[in-house]
Amino acid sequence: MNPPSVVDSILSARYLRKGEKDFTDICRRVASALADDENERARFYEAMISLRFLPNSPTLMNAGTEIGQLSACFTLPVPDTIDGIFDAMKEGAIIHKTGGGTGYNFSHIRPEGSPVQSTDGVASGPISFMRVFNAATDVIKQGGRRRGANMGILNVWHPDILAFISAKKKEGEFSNFNISVMVNDKFMDLVAAKSFETVWLTKGGTGEKITVGQIWNGIVEGIWKNGEPGILFYDEINRHNPTPQLGEIDTTNPCGEQPLLPYESCVLGSINLAACVREGAFDEDLLRDTSRMATRFLDLVIEKNVFPIPQIAEATRKTRKIGLGVMGVHDAMLMLGLSYDSEKGRAWCEWVMKVITETAIEESHRLAEKLGTFPAWQGSIWKDYEVRNAAMTTVAPTGTISLLAGCSSGIEPIFSFAYTRKNTVGKVFVIVNPVFKEALLHTLTGMGYAGDEREKKAGEVISHVHETGSMQDVAWLSAEFRGLFKTALDIPWREHILMQACFQKYVHASISKTINMPGSATKDDCAEALLMAWKLGLKGITIYRTGSREDVVLALKEKE
Ligand code: CDP
Repeated sequence: MNPPSVVDSILSARYLRKGEKDFTDICRRVASALADDENERARFYEAMISLRFLPNSPTLMNAGTEIGQLSACFTLPVPDTIDGIFDAMKEGAIIHKTGGGTGYNFSHIRPEGSPVQSTDGVASGPISFMRVFNAATDVIKQGGRRRGANMGILNVWHPDILAFISAKKKEGEFSNFNISVMVNDKFMDLVAAKSFETVWLTKGGTGEKITVGQIWNGIVEGIWKNGEPGILFYDEINRHNPTPQLGEIDTTNPCGEQPLLPYESCVLGSINLAACVREGAFDEDLLRDTSRMATRFLDLVIEKNVFPIPQIAEATRKTRKIGLGVMGVHDAMLMLGLSYDSEKGRAWCEWVMKVITETAIEESHRLAEKLGTFPAWQGSIWKDYEVRNAAMTTVAPTGTISLLAGCSSGIEPIFSFAYTRKNTVGKVFVIVNPVFKEALLHTLTGMGYAGDEREKKAGEVISHVHETGSMQDVAWLSAEFRGLFKTALDIPWREHILMQACFQKYVHASISKTINMPGSATKDDCAEALLMAWKLGLKGITIYRTGSREDVVLALKEKE
């Protein structure tokens, strides 16, 4: 879908290594670095070169190179000591250098104003330490190839929670962090019961009382204002913790799709569903075959991975979590004539994710029979069924790899069917989604248009879409056609949440997704969305109201 020059600019900026010319070289290097035999190497190569499956960026960048660090997701513990805090920062810097992203829960750090024994002074609190982490990230680019990404989490029961919630209120603050509040069911029960006056915590020292309402309103206000903080659901995450005997999970990676134990890392890989549609029909056998191959691929990544520090090697090898996910979901749905915001569409998505997860479990079982279970298998939720990996599926954002594959990202709906892209030398391309173009021409033919007249009419619609991002107001087009080709902003926010919930049903880890709301959405809408997400069993939620951030990452007319 993307013109070759766009792909080339991504490749040269991010993935090509010395002496490599194009994508075939990358696929060859990655397949050779991972495969144990020739047959496997050929399978891996074919899946990548056909853009049906791609591993996360660090694998594409570093497999078969001296760096050899292949994972995108890391979580690091932050203890309440100066040594420990600065160790975590150093470990984070090492991870960023190799292209990985780091998540931290800062809740162990004692609150601002509490006593510090060794100096007789007072503590500066988690938020001031976060500032130092943010500055450190600024100076370490990820292997010079992309900006470092962090997740900063604070539990809702930490006394500094109000300051944390408003930490990113000012645009540009903590720019290397996504921030999320870890809420528990106890808190959400009080919110659901509208017990806003209830005192939730009392600050030591000052004795200041903080109510449920103060925290909840702070969260809702922040989300409405600029999309942050995100929310993570502690109890739901831990109800699905595959290795409860190793402890509870309180941290996720930067984009939230991987809740992990301290020092765990995870490698991601995504199947492009659009590449599994053949002549208008979905090829289920191909999906199963790709899911099997991808499970083996990602398990091998754990084997061949060069881990940045020994604690990460140990924690990762203990559970052997892998993160197999999807991209090109909306593209595939359009090819199959399924609306994103329909029961039928969701039923199909649920089925696809079920197939992938079931196949990944089968393959992980087969690998366990041959190579052994993951070491922490006893005492895990898998204790009655041998598997090699404690968790297998996830949904990553696929920010870069979906550009490479030329498909819609993750499970997100398409943002616009016609948009402008600039390559690194500033050349501008108008990109029209090919499925949309074909369906538009077909519709126009059905309406009696032909030849030049049809081209002219199609051009008008495309210009309109390019200008406004939508064609829902082009009344002369059939309702059926407009109903299918809805964009992220045309789709009501409730339907976004329902889609995330339908994938979550079969995903082991979590899901990276943005719930898009129109600019006119109210704070009550934001609050309702959070409650809906909690009730539907999501592990976290990220909301973004159109136009609420100045540095809009994805502008309508120009997507860089
Ligand atoms: O498409 P790509 O493999 O580059 O990455 P993604 O699916 O957009 O993001 C997957 C994960 O990579 C994120 O959740 C982060 O943990 C990490 N990441 C990062 O460390 N730095 C970035 N600039 C982007 C992603």
